[in-house]
This record gives sequence, structure tokens and C-alpha cells, in this order.
Amino acid sequence: MKVTVVGAGNVGATVANVIAMKNFASEVVLLDIKEGVAEGKAMDMMQSAPMLGIDTTITGVTNDYAATFGSKVVVVTSGIPRKPGMSREDLIGTNAKIVKSVVDQALAYSPDATLIIISNPMDAMTYLTLKDTRLPRNRVIGLGGLLDSSRFKYYLAKALRQAGIPASLTDVDGMVIGGHNDKTMVPLVSYAAYRGIPITKLLPAAVMEDVVAKTKTGGATLTKLIGTSAWYAPGAAVATLVGSIVTDARKLIPCCVYLDGEYGEHDLCIGVPVILGSKGVERIVDVSLEGAEKEAFEASVVAARETNALLDTALA
Ligand code: 2OP
Repeated sequence: MKVTVVGAGNVGATVANVIAMKNFASEVVLLDIKEGVAEGKAMDMMQSAPMLGIDTTITGVTNDYAATFGSKVVVVTSGIPRKPGMSREDLIGTNAKIVKSVVDQALAYSPDATLIIISNPMDAMTYLTLKDTRLPRNRVIGLGGLLDSSRFKYYLAKALRQAGIPASLTDVDGMVIGGHNDKTMVPLVSYAAYRGIPITKLLPAAVMEDVVAKTKTGGATLTKLIGTSAWYAPGAAVATLVGSIVTDARKLIPCCVYLDGEYGEHDLCIGVPVILGSKGVERIVDVSLEGAEKEAFEASVVAARETNALLDTALA
């Protein structure tokens, strides 16, 4: 099973490395437009193979889409990352054209591939890809919710520890849906739990409000610290999506997908719980939203549609 990662920057290289370490793809092709970068990073990863038990072949190429022929999954990380103080939406003017070009070139060699979009503003880039390619919606998936959910769990575990409960991060469950947007993503407090115990029974409302706020700006917090977008958690999140697809694991994962009536919405790509398997999106799971969380999701939909409305100008 071949997987292509377009973009050998921090996120793309981490995706390739994590996929290789998990050995669930026979080959990973890492492609970049900058001469030698993908070749060098792929060679470096392969030289770690004897020590890490990597059986996957990682091949780096410079802008050679023929080398990506027959990929089961194509991961699109191309485009510029945000700088401190920028929103993801600020990138649309630059990244829309890049994503369109990359997707068109990749699909020419892998017409049956499932696409995973990371480039920001991710929800709009996913919508652009679906509309531009007219692929069936089960094969166009955006990464955001899983990354945001992992940050939600991080801050939940931190809050539990501060409340005197030495929680393991892997014992906390939480999901974020809606747009991959600092202001409008929706951490689902009502569904969050610590080993099955509702989190609202363990942490007061004021603490949960702080956890939600920190989750929403989790990406921006890292960009301020690092000076560019994060890559370890994004890379691990993408590899998790790829893994569920190539191994047909049918994991329930919040992803950005095209809605055609689910959640009462049409003609929009936004984060909702989905089951990911060999077909890509096997099923969209319609969880019941109530009260403030339902209103927050609706606000997230409005924001996503506003960003989509900028696409025509961005592509002109
Ligand atoms: C993030 O939140 C890059 O959008 C990605 O880190």
C-alpha cells in the first residue's frame, strides 16, 4: 500500500516518519517542490530504519508526481504555515492556488486515491478540493478535529492533575467538532470523560471554560512559542487518519467532511465524527447536539461558510 505525502516541511516530514514507524504502508513517497529537501529527509528517515525497525520504504522526490503513481492515500500539507498573530484564514490567498494545483497533479497519477487535506484554512481547502475534483465525498477528508481533540485531552488531563487527580492523558476522552478555527471550534464538554466518568462531575464549570479556551487557541499558542505552526501533533494526527484508512480499522475520528444533510447542513465541509476505513469516510456519525454546543456548532458553520465565500477571490 503506497501513501504519498505532498510537502516535506515540518508537518509533511513528521507524517511520513510516523507512518513509516508504524509500518502500515509498504511505501511512502514524500514530495516537495524545493530541490533535494524531500530526498534528503527521506534518506535520513531510512537511515533510522535499522534502529527503529522500519520496514516501510520512504522515497523522496522533487516535484515528480509520476513517482506517486497508484497511491491509496495522498496527504496534502503544501502551502505556507501561519506566523504568530495570524489566523489560519489569513492563509487562504496563498494556499488556495497551491492546494488546487497539488491536488490536480496528484490525482492525475492516483485517480482512485483518498485525499487528506492539512493545508490551512483547512476546512475551506477541503471544500475547495471536493468542489474542484468532484470526487465522491467519502474520499476527501480534512484534518482538524482529531488534532484539536488531542489538545482538548491534553488540557483536560492537565486540569484533572491540578484538581488533584493524577490522570493519564491516555485515560481522558474528549472530542472537538466544528471548524478548525481558533474562535469557532467546538470542544464537546458534555461528552468529555475520564475513564467513563463525565468530566463535568470532576471539574467545575469555570475550569472547563478555561480548558475550552486553551483548546481553541492551542495551535496559536504553539505558533507564538515556536514562531511557526506546530508539527508533532498534527503529524501524528494525520498518520492516525492514514492508518485507519489503509488498515480499514474503522476508527471513529472527528474529521472535516462534506455534509449533505447531516447535522441539518448542506454544501459545507466541517468537522464532525466519522468512521474511517478503506473507503475513506465509511459513515458520518450524527451525535445529538443540544443547548450551547448546538449553538456553537451553528456559529462554526456560519464562520466556515464565510471563509468558503472567499475562495473565488483567492483563486482569481
Ligand atoms: C494546527 O492547529 C497546523 O492548523 C494546524 O497546529
